[in-house]
Amino acid sequence: MVSTNEDNLPEVNSAPLIVDAEFTEVEGVETAPLLDAVEEISTAKVRRPLDLPAAQPTPEGRARIVTVINQKGGVGKTTTVINIAAQLALRGHKVLVVDSDSQGNCATGLGVDKSKVKATTRDLILNPESAVQARHATAVEGVHMIVGDKTLIGLEQEMLRQLGRERRMSEALEPLMSHYDIIIIDTPPTLGLVTINALVASDGILIPVQTEYFALEGLAMLAGTIREVRGLLNPRLGVDGVLLTMHAPTLLNQQVASEVREAFPELIVEPAIRRNIKLAEAPSHGIPIHLHEPRSPGGQDYQAMTTVLERRWGL
Ligand SMILES: Nc1ncnc2c1ncn2[C@@H]1O[C@H](COP(=O)(O)OP(=O)(O)OP(=O)(O)O)[C@@H](O)[C@H]1O
Ligand SMILES: [Mg+2]
Repeated sequence: MVSTNEDNLPEVNSAPLIVDAEFTEVEGVETAPLLDAVEEISTAKVRRPLDLPAAQPTPEGRARIVTVINQKGGVGKTTTVINIAAQLALRGHKVLVVDSDSQGNCATGLGVDKSKVKATTRDLILNPESAVQARHATAVEGVHMIVGDKTLIGLEQEMLRQLGRERRMSEALEPLMSHYDIIIIDTPPTLGLVTINALVASDGILIPVQTEYFALEGLAMLAGTIREVRGLLNPRLGVDGVLLTMHAPTLLNQQVASEVREAFPELIVEPAIRRNIKLAEAPSHGIPIHLHEPRSPGGQDYQAMTTVLERRWGL
């Protein structure tokens, strides 16, 4: 039975509070209380820079493999994959998108009907030799894709029984390497075995960061995963870029953006992608932003960002 005598309980631990008096003491004061509180929250969040290793150049004669990753959900990973892939293809590069997320949003955004697809990323991981047949054309000339879909659910459990389970995707992509300039892998918002497969296959990673509170919270965990993969499975893995997404001109967004810029001065890729409804609309038409509204802020930002990445990747 639960004791009601509180004297028997050990004292609760007390940790310093980030915002304690801020919300109560400002009542009736001229300065905007909410903005003061935001300032307090934001500066309290500054921490020592995370150790993210920079990536190496692509070895001669093969595709660069890039994983777009952040275990935080809804930060713009898939939107970034679709639009960077499309922008690169527009510039004449041969691009393969591999969707390793069971939500399968890359297919929708690139105009591929998932119900018509016979082989998916699941097949590629279970039978690496099926990769060549698993590729599909998309609504964008020059972009091929391997579709992720709900059959990826439960795959991690099945993979536990497999030998070399972290290297399946790497093996599968090997025969495709000389046929593409770049292979871009979309990942689910988890750091599970499928995501590890993507990291083991990759030269570089792109980390989209939404400029909201908690933006940097999960990055320490991601940095730890990158360190482990480098140490145990793929020593060449490094970070190709940190991207700011869904950026709006609010004070909080601006403050988070400057924290991220300060934390990763070498890795940040400018410009930030502005929050723009046209980017959210485009997938419902099965096309990337450059076919939907190229002149929209989102269209312009992804175009400019791709120029920076294209140079960084030596494409
Ligand atoms: N810059 C933007 N402006 C407005 N809406 C955006 C922007 N970028 C993405 N979105 C929308 O926000 C939602 C989440 O984006 P997206 O699916 O790309 O994130 P994600 O990181 O891939 O999510 P998940 O973790 O679930 O895979 C989508 O509805 C997308 O259309
Ligand atoms: Mg996604």
